Amino acid sequence: MLERPVISSHTSRNGSPLRSAFSSTASLFKPDSAGLGDDVHPIIHEGRVAVITGAASGIGRAAALELAKLKLKIAIADVDEARLLQVGKDVAAIVGDANVLVVPTDVSKLDQVVHLKEKVFELWGEVRIKTIHSNSPIMILIFVQVAVLMNNAGIGLTGTSWDGINNWKTIFDVNLFGILNVQQTFVPPMLHQENQGMIINTGSKQGITNPPGNAAYNASKAAVKSLTESLAHELREKPNSNVTAHLFIPGWTYTNLTGALHAEKPAGAWLAEETVLYMLDKVRAGDFYVLVPDNETRRELDQLRIMWAAGDIAEGRPALSRWHKDYKALFEEYVRDGMAGVGAGSERSF
Ligand SMILES: NC(=O)c1ccc[n+]([C@@H]2O[C@H](COP(=O)([O-])OP(=O)(O)OC[C@H]3O[C@@H](n4cnc5c(N)ncnc54)[C@H](O)[C@@H]3O)[C@@H](O)[C@H]2O)c1
Repeated sequence: MLERPVISSHTSRNGSPLRSAFSSTASLFKPDSAGLGDDVHPIIHEGRVAVITGAASGIGRAAALELAKLKLKIAIADVDEARLLQVGKDVAAIVGDANVLVVPTDVSKLDQVVHLKEKVFELWGEVRIKTIHSNSPIMILIFVQVAVLMNNAGIGLTGTSWDGINNWKTIFDVNLFGILNVQQTFVPPMLHQENQGMIINTGSKQGITNPPGNAAYNASKAAVKSLTESLAHELREKPNSNVTAHLFIPGWTYTNLTGALHAEKPAGAWLAEETVLYMLDKVRAGDFYVLVPDNETRRELDQLRIMWAAGDIAEGRPALSRWHKDYKALFEEYVRDGMAGVGAGSERSF
């Protein structure tokens, strides 16, 4: 049965301890980096450490620059050393050389991720001297208070369900195991931090609605969604946990991954800076799901598409019925109904 979807401009919450202090502005967002620094946020503020992977271009680069403007110390990692060094210079121009760490890193290689952590500890670790009992030996502990861990490195190699096995392995090595390598290396010390921290994993709408065209990428991003949801739950259930997790779901963003090297920015895409500013606004507010719109797809349309995809299972439709010839008209009607009354600026595509 076709039901009119319920759409609310209210964003869902993860019960984050940050929730009450910072309200969300889902429908009113205007990219504005100046506004981000107005409040002293417990995590995103001057002097704290951000570690960003995939920072040599696109969204990761934009995140490094925006967090530098907020005066965090920035550790950037990427497999593309030449570009990474340039981004390091750009970040240093904002925060100064002493507050930038550039570590060429292939996130799919655990030893390189461990090396990244060691470099961060070496540069910004604080040595604390602790006495356990009055008669016991002194223990020297090194703390690095990582505030923002942004797992963003990603690739878009293609693979269909019965073809391109090597691409499948490579894409999972980076998009999924790259994140897992970073989580398994950085999260244990983060759990012992005194200060709050956050982990932002970059997923994709393709990992939720699974559009035909790149099964390997979609599956890797579906795994990132699952992994990050589990991480959020595990952190939430851990007594005295100071760390939250966030699934960052960019909209269409003009980057190297989406052809920025060769063409002009399509009107429908956002700049990486816009996507990052929107993301920072939402994670500051404590949102777990950071579903980012773009100039072509607004939040309400994403909500409809996500609900339709879930409805395939709940209502017993064929897989990916949105793209099934027998369901096309029904889906379009569903979207038309759902978008009616949402207001100006509705989408050109389904
Ligand atoms: N651009 C979009 O429209 C869009 C939409 C949804 C999700 N995303 C996701 O956003 C993230 C950033 O992508 P982007 O669009 O900025 O693309 P991008 O290509 O500009 O940036 C990705 C970066 O990751 C780096 N990288 C690749 N493999 C790596 C590895 N093994 N180790 C370390 N770094 C590695 C690349 O060198 C590059 O600098 C990706 O996870 C991507 O899947 C992008």
